[in-house]
Amino acid sequence: MYFDIMVGSVLGASEYVAEALLANLKEAGYNGECHFEPSISTLNKENILLICTSTHGAGDLPDNILPYAKDLAKQNLCGLNAIVIGLGDSSYDTYCGAAMSIEAMLVDKGATLLVEPLHIDVLNHPIPEDIAVEWFAEQLKKINA
Ligand SMILES: Cc1cc2nc3c(=O)[nH]c(=O)nc-3n(C[C@H](O)[C@H](O)[C@H](O)COP(=O)(O)O)c2cc1C
Repeated sequence: MYFDIMVGSVLGASEYVAEALLANLKEAGYNGECHFEPSISTLNKENILLICTSTHGAGDLPDNILPYAKDLAKQNLCGLNAIVIGLGDSSYDTYCGAAMSIEAMLVDKGATLLVEPLHIDVLNHPIPEDIAVEWFAEQLKKINA
């Protein structure tokens, strides 16, 4: 399995998470790549799409992933397997709103969410990559089962 890890980040936390996940999946014998400036040109339905994004503004996607998300929403995503990890802060009403909007769009366009999305509350998890890596290891077992 090859993972395209699409990163949406303003302050860098989601980038650390994505890099930790990439290291993790390589250790487990898989391969993949982090895309810090995601582009629709990399869309390949044979790969697993892993979107790792924070939320900014008032429930908004980070600027670096917004064009990609808009382009993705124009595609027929039937046959695409995806995983979403969101970072957010539960003191906002729009907690993990960006991840949730991507999840809804993926399903609407026909993609399959392989596992329930993970939403990481950075208030409870000041080092979000720790919980992300732990969670991801469990999901890899499920996907492979
Ligand atoms: C200006 C600003 C707005 C934010 N808005 C939200 C929000 O609407 N919902 C949410 O869940 N988190 C919000 N957050 C929290 C960020 O998602 C959180 O700090 C995250 O770890 C940032 O990840 P990043 O460094 O990858 O951008 C906001 C943070 C900032 C600084």
